[in-house]
Amino acid sequence: MMTERLTPNDIAHAAALLRAGSLIAFGTETVYGLGADACNADAVAAIYAAKGRPSFNPLICHFADAQMAFRYVTRTPLAEKLAAKFWPGPLTLVLPRAKNCPVSQLAGAGLPALAVRVPGHHTALKLLTEFGGPVAAPSANRSGRMSPTSAAHVLSELDGRIAAVLDSGPCAVGLESTVLDLSGPLPVILRPGGVSVEALEAEIGPIQRASGDSNAPASPGMLLSHYAPTLPVRLNATSAAADEALLAFGPPLPGAALVFQLSETQNLRQAAARLFEGLHVLDAEGAKRGLTHIAAMHVPNHGLGLAINDRLTRAASPRHDISGKNII
Ligand code: TXA
Ligand code: MG
Repeated sequence: MMTERLTPNDIAHAAALLRAGSLIAFGTETVYGLGADACNADAVAAIYAAKGRPSFNPLICHFADAQMAFRYVTRTPLAEKLAAKFWPGPLTLVLPRAKNCPVSQLAGAGLPALAVRVPGHHTALKLLTEFGGPVAAPSANRSGRMSPTSAAHVLSELDGRIAAVLDSGPCAVGLESTVLDLSGPLPVILRPGGVSVEALEAEIGPIQRASGDSNAPASPGMLLSHYAPTLPVRLNATSAAADEALLAFGPPLPGAALVFQLSETQNLRQAAARLFEGLHVLDAEGAKRGLTHIAAMHVPNHGLGLAINDRLTRAASPRHDISGKNII
């Protein structure tokens, strides 16, 4: 299949492709999503196929606005408050499916609750408005690989496997949305992301973090091996060797063959926006030069640092196949 390169001028065509059941990668403020009509199970199945996902993880449904989102899930006062404050933006809410919700069960992995969000990106919102319904979209990468933050990243993994990529520039936030489960008695963070836990807590009070136990992922997408560059990642590096690529945060450690700076001034927002770009660059260039590791410098564990460390820990964890056996 030829993958069409679309620009923000091609919104009508992009929406028509979605209506026809085709897959379109599109930029959001967080990462590029691989979108399909959420109500068309065949189209949704094509997402899993293109990604090569080993299991049917539930997908996030994207909407043009909160009013549209709340037609597909059962709203709560908390959900309305958070939607008013953070949408459009990098927050995903998990809520019980509305009665007769037409979203395919495959998109929701058969679960009683559905993840919904309104992305904070002009082009994405235009596409969603033009399409007029829910667009299921996981990050537009092959399963177990890093999330793409540019159209070029998308094409490097999915060229020839999807109908089109809508190039809307690099992603400003650079890491995925925060996933907050509001379907139970208490709100639970399933995945740290672009909205910090502190910002959420400022609105609604203390929130439970999902268990950090890697053997019992709170959300099926939270498998430890989810965000994996090819080169092994070494965390909290305090020195760097001549055969290593360094992911620097602040003044770089001396001695590495290759350095990618997340943030010279140790700004966590900037580091978050550059994280996947850094891992992509070090992985590709490091492999070319025969380097052995990506050595990642320590990033403090507060604010967006929590989400950065979540991604880095996954990138550094041993790779498992679905039976749980180590494959590297
Ligand atoms: O920023 C983002 O969220 C990006 C952009 C494209 O919107 N999307 C994204 O999708 O990261 P994906 O599929 O890579 O991750 C979705 C996360 C997974 O951890 C998944 O398990 C969780 O959301 N999730 C989705 N639906 C869920 C549900 N019904 N219950 C619990 N967790 C759910
Ligand atoms: Mg993903």
